[in-house]
Amino acid sequence: MLAAFFAIRWQTAQAGRPAAVIMLDQRFLPTRELYRTYTHYQGVARAIRAMIIRGAPAIGVAAAMGLALGARQLKTSDRPATFDRLCRVFAATRPTAVNLFWAIERMRGVYAETHAAGRTRLCERLEHEALALYAEDIEANRRLGRYGAALIPPRASVLTHCNAGALATAGYGTALGVIRAAWEQGKHLSVYVPETRPFLQGARLTAWELSKEGIPATLITDNMVGHFMQKGAIDCAIVGTDRTAANGDVANKIGTYTSAVLAARHELPFYVAAPTTSVDLACPSGAHIPIEERAAREVTHIFRQQIAPTDIPVANPAFDVTPHPLVSAIITERGVVRAPYDESLPRVVRAGQPDTAVSS
Ligand code: MRU
Repeated sequence: MLAAFFAIRWQTAQAGRPAAVIMLDQRFLPTRELYRTYTHYQGVARAIRAMIIRGAPAIGVAAAMGLALGARQLKTSDRPATFDRLCRVFAATRPTAVNLFWAIERMRGVYAETHAAGRTRLCERLEHEALALYAEDIEANRRLGRYGAALIPPRASVLTHCNAGALATAGYGTALGVIRAAWEQGKHLSVYVPETRPFLQGARLTAWELSKEGIPATLITDNMVGHFMQKGAIDCAIVGTDRTAANGDVANKIGTYTSAVLAARHELPFYVAAPTTSVDLACPSGAHIPIEERAAREVTHIFRQQIAPTDIPVANPAFDVTPHPLVSAIITERGVVRAPYDESLPRVVRAGQPDTAVSS
C-alpha cells in the first residue's frame, strides 16, 4: 500500500489552474501537515536547499518537476544556454545525492531532443518525463522492498537510520520500503529509530511514518545504538543511501557509519537499500563522494532554542561514508547484490540483471 500522505506531486495545468509542484513541508512534521504549492522553479530549488523536501530519490523527482516548471517560464526566444542555467541552479542545491544529478541529466536529454519542436511540445515532453521519473521511482521502491523483505527474518527487530521512507522518495520508500513490504507480508517486526541529529529525520519523520502505518517502533537517541546491540535487542540494520560508489562504499546520513561499525562488532547484518538511481559507477570509491557541510545553526539550535555557546566552532557534515566491507548486501530494485561490489554493482546497474538469487 502507498502511504496516506505524499512528499511531492505534480499539478497539471487546467482551467485557470497553473502547473505546479506540491510538496509536504517536512520541516514542520510531525506537528503540522502543511502542503506548499510552487509555480516557479526558483521556489522548488529553494525548497530542496531548505530541506522542505529531502531524501535522495525525492530531491531527484523535485528537480525534474522543477525543471518542467522552469521550461514553462522560458520565453520562446530563450536559447539552450538558458535551460542549462536552470539545470545548474538545481545542481547547486545539494551535492551528495547522485539521484539529483541523474534526474537533471535525464531532463537535459529530453530538452536537447525536443527544444527544436516548439515551446508547447517541449513543455509537454518535460512534464511527461518528470511524471515518468516519479512513477518509476515508486515502482523501483516496491520492487526493492520485495527483494529486501526476503532478507528479514519472520520475527525481527530492525535498526534504521534517518528517513528513507515514503517521505524521502516519490512514495513507498527504500529502507522503510523493505520494512513496509516485510510488514505487509505478515512478518512480526519492530523498528529501532535513532533520532538522527541534527535535523531529526528519525524522530520527526521516520517515527511519524511508522506510527501512521501502525508498525511498532521505538525512538532512541543516536548514541543508544551500541547499547541496544550489546543487549541483543537488534537483529539487523537497514539504511538508505544518497550515493553508492562503484566499489560499494555508501554515503548516507551522518551516523550511518557508526551504526555499521557497531553492527560488524556485534555480527549483525547491515543492509543498504539502494535504487540503481543512487549508484554512481563513475565514482570509484567513497573518498570521491562530495559530502555536504550544512549550517552551524542546525547543530547549535534545536528549532529556535539555542543549546550551545554562541560562537563555538561547529562541524556539520550531513553525510558519512560506510566502507563496503561493512555492508552485508545492497538491495536494488533489480535484486540483492553482495561483495565483490566492484563486480556485482556494475552488472546490476548496466545490464539490469539481478546479480544473484535473493538470499538471506
Ligand atoms: O539530508 P537528508 O534528509 O536528505 O538525508 C537523507 C538520507 O540520508 C537518506 O537515508 C537517503 O537520502 C536515502 S532516502 C531513500
